[in-house]
Amino acid sequence: MPAYVVVGTQWGDEGKGKIVDFLTERVDIVARYQGGNNAGHTVVISGEEYILHLVPSGILHPDKVCVVGNGTVIDAEILAQEIADLERRGTEVAGRLFISENAHLIMPYHKLFEKMQEEMKGANKLGTTLRGIGPAYTDKADRAGIRAGDLLDETVFRSKLESNLKLKNAIITKVFGQPALKVDEIIAQYEAYAERLIECLADTSLILNEALDAGKMVLFEGAQGTMLDVDQGTYPYVTSSNTVAGAACAGTGVGPTRINGVIAVVKAYTTRVGAGPFPTEQGGEVGERLREKGHEYGATTGRPRRCGWFDAPLVRRSLLLNGATSIALTKPDVLGGMDSIKVCVMYRCNGAEVRCSPENAGLLGQCEPIYEEVDGWAEDLSSCSNFEQMPPAAQQYFRYLEDLLDCPISIISTGAARDNTVVLREPFFEG
Ligand code: IMP
Repeated sequence: MPAYVVVGTQWGDEGKGKIVDFLTERVDIVARYQGGNNAGHTVVISGEEYILHLVPSGILHPDKVCVVGNGTVIDAEILAQEIADLERRGTEVAGRLFISENAHLIMPYHKLFEKMQEEMKGANKLGTTLRGIGPAYTDKADRAGIRAGDLLDETVFRSKLESNLKLKNAIITKVFGQPALKVDEIIAQYEAYAERLIECLADTSLILNEALDAGKMVLFEGAQGTMLDVDQGTYPYVTSSNTVAGAACAGTGVGPTRINGVIAVVKAYTTRVGAGPFPTEQGGEVGERLREKGHEYGATTGRPRRCGWFDAPLVRRSLLLNGATSIALTKPDVLGGMDSIKVCVMYRCNGAEVRCSPENAGLLGQCEPIYEEVDGWAEDLSSCSNFEQMPPAAQQYFRYLEDLLDCPISIISTGAARDNTVVLREPFFEG
């Protein structure tokens, strides 16, 4: 039965939350496969705004099941709060949210290490979200991580924590000059979070595979964007997980043969948070206008996002990395009211013109955008309920993007609300 991945194609913040929310009506299960509370999805339902960091936004649909897969890293405090907040606002979570026992926990020392590491890097800092994501994935790869399932047994949890704190406290006190962390204090904190989380722990790989066998439809939800992938993105200015669609398999425990298609979320302009190369960045009036009209401030950290024109070479690379079957285009409404719109169609890189951003991200900073300029439109797109109602210049712009990217657009989002969504063609089809 169909399983689809929704993935961001730029540097995150493409509006995946809105697209996932829209598609959720047509699926049975939504599963997250990587990242942690560095992500933040803003979803507007009946005028009410929800910002979710870890729990898939599918939880806001009463009849859907949500999975937080083994590839994620969990800040137990934040997840416990998020669950409590959802319940307080009337959303039932028990029996609908399942958390993999193999997901790794973000521990207090992860956040401390990240803060100290960023400070020590000075001008070379990465501009991370300081949520402990990188150090948690480091411990996972180092086989020192503590997993969500370890919350089930205090003896195991204590022994792993003690073993970790030996080395961590030596670094915390001797290198960082900070007070040592205390085992008992951490255990007391995590006991409180465990009370909330344990009821959601489950064998999520089995749940997903059995659901697929039973003909249920699953949507895998990526966090961040392709250019933040630790292997394929603009390393080292990336997050510490694989964000590409292929990671949905390893991050949830389903095989690649079960995935039928990939919906690539593409924002009609480009943004990035934190440091790193950004060829089409606009520092002046254009950047400011995109930031204000697009509300380009981080849902997680509130940081202003860097803004710039649409970058086709970058998105072409993403589409091929993800094996995209169609595009969900977001926020073209933000471009409304501009006389003309610039689009980067190629790069000039090392004296050559290139169609696709370089695999070697070190070269991206040397790539110069080659722009084309197309007509803008004055009308508000959010009132359009189909393609034909859209202003001719907007229609032309969308067709132009499809040609540039050689990939069909299935969905156009024309505003934050669920209703502001135009379906051009079926995004779910058997591949
Ligand atoms: P980390 O994921 O906190 O380690 O941050 C690494 C880089 O990824 C930084 O540049 C962050 O700004 C960026 N980043 C992490 N999560 C997101 C996100 O959800 N949206 C946009 N950028 C993100």
